[in-house]
Parts: sequence; C-alpha cells; structure tokens
Amino acid sequence: MDALKVLIARRAPPAVVAQLRAHLDADYHEGELPLTPDELRARLQGKAGAYITGTERITAELLDACPGLRVVCTMSVGYNHIDLAACTARGVLVTNTPDVLTESTADFGFALLMATARRMSEGERLLRDGGWKSWAWDFLAGAEVHGSTLGILGMGRIGQAIARRGRFGFGMRVVYHNRSRLPGDVEAELGARYVTKEALLREADHLVLVLPYSAESHHCIAAPELALMKPTATLVNVARGGIVDEDALAAALRERRIAAAGLDVFEGEPRVNPALLTLPNVVLTPHIASATMPTRVAMAQLAADNLIAALTGGTPPTPLNPEVLSS
Ligand code: DGY
Repeated sequence: MDALKVLIARRAPPAVVAQLRAHLDADYHEGELPLTPDELRARLQGKAGAYITGTERITAELLDACPGLRVVCTMSVGYNHIDLAACTARGVLVTNTPDVLTESTADFGFALLMATARRMSEGERLLRDGGWKSWAWDFLAGAEVHGSTLGILGMGRIGQAIARRGRFGFGMRVVYHNRSRLPGDVEAELGARYVTKEALLREADHLVLVLPYSAESHHCIAAPELALMKPTATLVNVARGGIVDEDALAAALRERRIAAAGLDVFEGEPRVNPALLTLPNVVLTPHIASATMPTRVAMAQLAADNLIAALTGGTPPTPLNPEVLSS
C-alpha cells in the first residue's frame, strides 16, 4: 500500500486541495453530497489517510474494513462522528480543528441568541407574508438581552468566548455549568459563576448549549430539564443536535413552557424534526455556526496541515490521540 494515498472525502478550498495534492496522492470526492457509508468504505480501500468533515462517520467496522488507514483528519472541532477509542486501539491517529473556529462560532451563537430572544425570524416571516399592519406596543415584543442572565452549559473555548460577548458587550450576568470548574482567574475574567446544572436551568434567561456530544450528554436537555427553565427563557444550541430531546423541546415551545429556541444543529440533520418546523417561536439554521469564509478556510487548512504532517514525517498540530504518535 502506498503510504501517501489519501481520500479527500468532501469538497475543500481549491488552494488547500492543491496543497494536499502537492504532498499526497489524493483521491478527491468533489460531489456536493457526502459519500454513503458503503461508498466511503470503498473509496478508503488502500488509503493511508482520510480527510473528512463532521458528516463522515468513522466507526470500528469501517476501520476493520480499511486496515491500511493510519490517520483521520476531520475539518471540525467536534469529533463525535469518529470512534476515537477504536482509532486509538488500532493505532490510527485522529486530528480535529480546534481554536480556529472559536470566535466565529461564538459570534454566531450570540447572533442566534439575539435572533431568538428578539423574534427576528418570526418578524421577517410575518413581514414577507404581508402580515405587518401597524405599530403596536406589544408587537413582536421579545425578551431583554442586555443586563439579563446568560447561562452556558459547556464552558470550553467557545463557551468562554460567548461568555465574553455577554459580559463585556451586553452587561450580562454569566452563570455556567461544566464537567470541571474553571480556574478562579478565568472565572474572574469572565465574571462567570459556577452553578449546578439545576441552578443553571432555573436561573438562565438565555441558555446556550456548547458542550461536546457523547453518550453522557445525549438528550441531557429533555422534558425534566425544560421544566426547570423560566417560561420567559430562550434556549440556544450550537453544539450537537443529540444533546436536546427535540420532541420534548417542541412540546415545551408549543405549550409556551419556555419562550423560544434557536437551533443550529439537529439530531437527524439535515433532516429536521417536523414538529419544530411549524412552530413560530423557534429560529432554525442549517449547522452554519462556524461558516465564515476565513474560518472555513482556516479549518480546511488546519485539517490539511495535520494530514500532510502525519503522513510525511512531520508533527501534526492538533492531534486528539497523540499517544498514537509515540507508540
Ligand atoms: C464543528 O467544527 O464541530 C462544527 O460543528 C462544524 O462541523
């Protein structure tokens, strides 16, 4: 097997593809839609590297069917689509693209919070449909953002960047819950108060989900959690769809047990739970939180840097299982 043969499984910026081709023997899937799992398995035969995005699933079965695979580089910070333990057990290096998308994703998370709290999509739909008749004191009146309480579930890099926007841009009180508490100096800089998950749900006027998706976080926002939230609260998800029980959320939104939700990610995406599509008080966007041109190019470049380094004797900049490099 040729140690430099790779599959570029999704379209990438032309300059990045050219760079990959200059260093590696690349089979390029240029189609708009992802390869099916069977196509992915077939195209990975005889390949040492895979350049993927969050839409290609790397499972233990796939790894067993592609024994030549040595490295998987995903153009995403999230890696729940990759069985990391199975990769590590088989000596397959995995890399992701942290940091380069933090600020753009936080910008979008905050924009989604604003659009949701201030009923922007609802207003635009109404306007386009000819439903705007006159000014009224309570016309599309939403929730206050400035000076309110921002709750963050998952206080990693993106959560912290959202907290900064809330604190310094909008004078918000920040409360958070995370697997581990932040160091005191970081909490002080963000003005963030660590609380239990239950207190977070009760206190937040706007709750933003930014935690990684795993078996542990699957449906960690479901009916019992939604029941603890304020009836005026908004919920924003820019993490992964599976974190929220969408049927329970749709019921809570329909019955106005919470005010509104902004969702950029969905459990079965690109399919969207039909119950959400008919509700006025939900803002829906198609997984675009990191989608600015400079950020997407930076993600594509970092994934390429990882792949080229891993297969040409360099040091991959952002490995997820660096122990594989030393074994
Ligand atoms: C990420 O980087 O994980 C984003 O969700 C894009 O896939």
